[in-house]
Amino acid sequence: MLTIKNLSKTFYKGMDEENQVFDNFSLEVEESKCVAILGPNGCGKSTLFNMISGSLDPDGGEILLGDVDLVKLSEDERAIDTGKVNQDPSKGVCQNLNILENMSMALKKGHKFTFKRLIDKKNNQEIIEKLKSLDLGLEKKLKTQVKFLSGGQRQSLSLLMATVKKPKILLLDEHTAALDPKTSKLIMDKTNDLIKKEKITTLMITHNLKNAIEYADRIIMLNKGKIVLDILPSEVTEEELTRIYNEKIEEGNGMEAEKSASLGNLRKVEKIA
Ligand SMILES: Nc1ncnc2c1ncn2[C@@H]1O[C@H](COP(=O)(O)OP(=O)(O)OP(=O)(O)O)[C@@H](O)[C@H]1O
Ligand SMILES: [Mg+2]
Repeated sequence: MLTIKNLSKTFYKGMDEENQVFDNFSLEVEESKCVAILGPNGCGKSTLFNMISGSLDPDGGEILLGDVDLVKLSEDERAIDTGKVNQDPSKGVCQNLNILENMSMALKKGHKFTFKRLIDKKNNQEIIEKLKSLDLGLEKKLKTQVKFLSGGQRQSLSLLMATVKKPKILLLDEHTAALDPKTSKLIMDKTNDLIKKEKITTLMITHNLKNAIEYADRIIMLNKGKIVLDILPSEVTEEELTRIYNEKIEEGNGMEAEKSASLGNLRKVEKIA
């Protein structure tokens, strides 16, 4: 179980650009479930992932994986329990290494190793079997440098690398957004097969409402760092979800406008006084 408690994050604290992204944010995610995270650009989705994976420190709060508070661990220590796939297919892989080297590195995640000792022949069969499961023929290209693969092939490899040492939590940050519709569907299906088979607890950021309904066990929507919707996919059609999504954004903008109007009034009063 992932339990996020009272998480807060403000960028540029005390400066003119101060930007409070989270204020006492809490969320519980049941084990083995896939939760889709929706929300408009800039609402804090990737920031949330960065605080879970450890590339960003929260100002306060806890991120409990079981009874371990990830916030107290370094990014490297967290890498054993967390897997992440980003939007950019080049990010989760080492471009200048070949497929075998990339997969070998993923198997050594969380352990110290030297490049010389990267390839461990006894792992090769496992790597080949895993690659075969992708059904893209990558097992026949073990010595191909990853930079020569297509975006879809790289993203599949990245997904496999993030899950080969079963993580306690998998973070997918718009991981199919940069792919063409056919490849995007292929990667989504592979993702679904993998996380269901391995029972991996998954958070999946997506702007694709159809995918959220089709693949997630639960859908939440963030707006301005708050959960404004928390539903089961079976409760909505894609059209209903689109309507609710747009309403929630408008509500959020309305509240923001009210807030700045009242702040404006306050400033006027301050000036008069
Ligand atoms: N490292 C950072 N330094 C300063 N500000 C940041 C940093 N990371 C994110 N922000 C700010 O935090 C807010 C939330 O950004 P975030 O990237 O989490 O949004 P998002 O919901 O992932 O948006 P998108 O859908 O566009 O990916 C934005 O205002 C962004 O400018
Ligand atoms: Mg983002």
